[in-house]
Amino acid sequence: MAFPSNLLAFVLLSILPWTAQAALYTSSSQLPRSTYDYIIVGAGTAGNVIAARLTENPNCEVLVLEAGVSDEGVYAATVPLLAPSLSKSAYDWNYTIVAQPNLNGRTLPYPRGKLLGGTSSINYMVYTRGSADDFDRYAEVTGDPGWKWDNMGLYRSRHERFVPPTEGWDTTGVYNPLVHGTEGPLAVALPNSMDPLSQIVLGASKELHDEFFFNQDANSGNTLGIGFTQATNGGGRRSSSSTAYLHPNIHRPNLHVLTNAQVTRLVKTGSKKGRPLFGAIEFQSDRQASPVRVTANTEIILSAGSAGTPSILQLSGIGDKTDLALVGIDTIVDLPSVGKNLSDHLFTTISFKFNGPSYDDLLRNHEVFQSSLEEWENHKTGPLANTPTNQIGWFRLPSDHPIFDGTPDPSAGLRSAHYEIIFSNIFHSHAAQRPSVGNFTTFSVSLASPSSRGTVRLSSRDPWAAPLIDPNFLSTEFDRVALREGVKAALRFSQAPAWKDWIEGLWEGCANLNDDDEIDAYIRQASDIVYHPIGTASMTSEDAGWGVVNPDLKVKGVEGLRIVDASILPFIPSAHTQATVYMAAERAADIIRDSAEFKATVLQRDEL
Ligand SMILES: Cc1cc2nc3c(=O)[nH]c(=O)nc-3n(C[C@H](O)[C@H](O)[C@H](O)COP(=O)(O)OP(=O)(O)OC[C@H]3O[C@@H](n4cnc5c(N)ncnc54)[C@H](O)[C@@H]3O)c2cc1C
Ligand SMILES: *[C@@H]1O[C@H](CO)[C@@H](O)[C@H](O)[C@H]1NC(C)=O
Ligand SMILES: *[C@@H]1O[C@H](CO)[C@@H](O)[C@H](O)[C@H]1NC(C)=O
Ligand SMILES: *[C@@H]1O[C@H](CO)[C@@H](O)[C@H](O)[C@H]1NC(C)=O
Repeated sequence: MAFPSNLLAFVLLSILPWTAQAALYTSSSQLPRSTYDYIIVGAGTAGNVIAARLTENPNCEVLVLEAGVSDEGVYAATVPLLAPSLSKSAYDWNYTIVAQPNLNGRTLPYPRGKLLGGTSSINYMVYTRGSADDFDRYAEVTGDPGWKWDNMGLYRSRHERFVPPTEGWDTTGVYNPLVHGTEGPLAVALPNSMDPLSQIVLGASKELHDEFFFNQDANSGNTLGIGFTQATNGGGRRSSSSTAYLHPNIHRPNLHVLTNAQVTRLVKTGSKKGRPLFGAIEFQSDRQASPVRVTANTEIILSAGSAGTPSILQLSGIGDKTDLALVGIDTIVDLPSVGKNLSDHLFTTISFKFNGPSYDDLLRNHEVFQSSLEEWENHKTGPLANTPTNQIGWFRLPSDHPIFDGTPDPSAGLRSAHYEIIFSNIFHSHAAQRPSVGNFTTFSVSLASPSSRGTVRLSSRDPWAAPLIDPNFLSTEFDRVALREGVKAALRFSQAPAWKDWIEGLWEGCANLNDDDEIDAYIRQASDIVYHPIGTASMTSEDAGWGVVNPDLKVKGVEGLRIVDASILPFIPSAHTQATVYMAAERAADIIRDSAEFKATVLQRDEL
């Protein structure tokens, strides 16, 4: 969602009152020591969960190294609908993916959060857990039944605090209270503010029930159907891993967090059990600064995300030896799966001229924006308390679709979608600017279970150089067919009688969607990334012959190193990825606290 530059300047310059905090350091000279039990790389979505859970034990000394800055005072990171303004800002790594042959050779911006909270501080907050089949597949691939949906119940509820919408509308029947946590740190809610589009979507869903049926709660294990969006904007403001896990615990004397610390490599400090031991980390505050070294007594946890984690591994000599040789790095551990099997969601937006209230004026008209901002400031209600979508639908291709003749189904199972449709009451297109007049509604069609796989590789041995990120979108026939079928489904949905008085026709930019060739051409020209990269440090069973970490998240062939972030997911969930990351991180924290390493160091100290 492109953000107008005049409003952008305004929101990015607004600063909240700043509060100094005890163990939040900004310079390595402030660090009281150079040795910790655990050192976590990246204060992002997963990293902060691990930091908070491990420091519940007052004897466990934890350091978190974060390349970005603090999220304190970052106003746009608190107002939900301002999320898009954080991309291409000072809080973004500003990566770009390599030219995509199946998208007319286009490159695309690739935002990743570069501040406390990581990408959970800049994302669009949609909260979707994936299906039971997604988790059952993780259990199958890893051989660890602990990852099964039925065994993850504790981790589904532990992170979550489901709260009522700030506008207090009646939520009976539009979510299932039984599948939600109420005591966790992360505030999740249904849309805070209702809009007329919701009623139209639900009306059309009733009329075309066979295909577009209602699902009371897509977070119950079965994602299929249309339902109300749940998001991490509980209470009308962004809840991130930083606001939920880090700041509430930053007073703990055993939790130290250092910002402006970009990890440049892990250091091999010896060997253990015949394997190389990685016991130290080097980081720099900027490219010119001399590297600073810190040591982990127990373990290093890499939580630098799907681009950052494989990059750090490769810079440290852990990766595919052919890839490493290309950039002149000596291989210490030949692990060919590092940076491979990158999988991401791609989406195509279809906008319609809409004869009803939309959020378009909000981004076009300074007075409308100001009054909405005042409403948000005073009550945490109104459009700015919302994400860009109040309803989402998840759908499968019919089982007799010809694509399945000879092509295996890449989805995890019958409760996982092939495509998703996101409904927004605003114009949204990667291919064009917002028209200067008129109201719009947009159906964004996303490929939920893609089979294309890409890579994250180093462009150079310089740790400050951006990696080569190649999602390799639409490189399989399945993906091209499924996205095309999703676009057709969205067009079918727009034909429901409920839309008759509201939709005045397609926006001119997508007027030519009359046959498969026209749809395919539009997909290549207009599709954009949904920013859900996973898989670049996949978890697999110990004897799998591929993968980067074992089911306990220890790096294969290495001692002293675990990975906890989106990169460990061996398949993309049929979902926006943050909830899956929170669940995986909560389980990872328990795995670490139950480990022999934790017992031998931290717990042994407890007993003294
Ligand atoms: C614009 C956008 C919108 C999104 N919207 C949604 C959504 O609506 N719903 C949803 O579920 N998901 C969404 N996502 C995806 C979701 O937010 C991510 O899947 C999730 O946050 C990833 O968590 P992570 O822990 O793997 O990585 P991150 O949260 O990115 O954490 C990685 C951290 O490591 C730090 N780091 C990286 N390299 C280094 C280094 N060398 N040294 C030190 N620190 C380093 C980073 O700065 C960052 O803080 C969105 C993503 C984007 C970019
Ligand atoms: C990202 O790019 C924007 C301009 O496009 C710039 O203002 C910002 O500082 C950059 N972010 C970082 C972390 O360098
Ligand atoms: C990529 O994942 C597939 C399973 O989806 C696996 O068979 C293959 O070995 C993986 N490739 C690498 C290089 O890890
Ligand atoms: C367009 O949306 C605005 C709300 O932003 C609303 O006030 C206006 O009435 C809408 N126009 C139409 C034709 O419905």
